[in-house]
Amino acid sequence: MSDSRHADHPAASMFVERWSPRSFTGEALPESALMTILEAARWTPSASNTQPWRFVYGLNGTPEFDKLVSVLMGFNQVWTPKAGALLLVVSKTQTVNADGAQSPLRWHSYDTGAAGLAIALQAEALGYHAHSMGGVEGEKAKEVFSIPEGYKVESAIAIGKLGPREALPEKLQEREVKSDRMPVSEFAFKGEFKA
Ligand SMILES: Cc1cc2nc3c(=O)[nH]c(=O)nc-3n(C[C@H](O)[C@H](O)[C@H](O)COP(=O)(O)O)c2cc1C
Repeated sequence: MSDSRHADHPAASMFVERWSPRSFTGEALPESALMTILEAARWTPSASNTQPWRFVYGLNGTPEFDKLVSVLMGFNQVWTPKAGALLLVVSKTQTVNADGAQSPLRWHSYDTGAAGLAIALQAEALGYHAHSMGGVEGEKAKEVFSIPEGYKVESAIAIGKLGPREALPEKLQEREVKSDRMPVSEFAFKGEFKA
């Protein structure tokens, strides 16, 4: 495993060392571990505490897991069957306000993305890894899981124990590395914005 990661400032290693492998062992995640991971998501901050995240989960070896694989885009169907669990990530886009009218939850994706990071960090703390995927067939997922209007399919997350790199198809082996990042100075600016 090549590891190019180096923190320029002393951030906690849980942030710097987290990464998203694609090779998993195929061992089902214990449901209790998944509940711990979802409990971490539960405590995510959200706009006005609206908690718009929703998840459909399945453990490897169950019909629900196979259904979740079936709504992923082709590329993600190559490696996800060996994850220990899969989550479909959905956000609630609207709520009913006091006078009964629909009102949009403007930060539904922002809040749900934050919950996704909680999931990744808690998974790593338990010795697992999480891998987010935007590559989901959204319309198919809505159909398969009967997701009504007012909800958006955001992504999916694979969680599992790290497997051997060699178990992946060759093209994916090349990508099975901890990626680097741009320096802080390229995305944070003192008192001004730089495009
Ligand atoms: C919103 C989102 C969508 C992503 N979509 C996919 C995907 O469809 N398939 C995939 O293999 N990886 C996907 N990734 C994983 C990213 O490529 C990966 O997180 C990024 O390269 C940084 O690597 P790291 O997580 O190992 O630090 C996605 C990640 C995020 C956050």
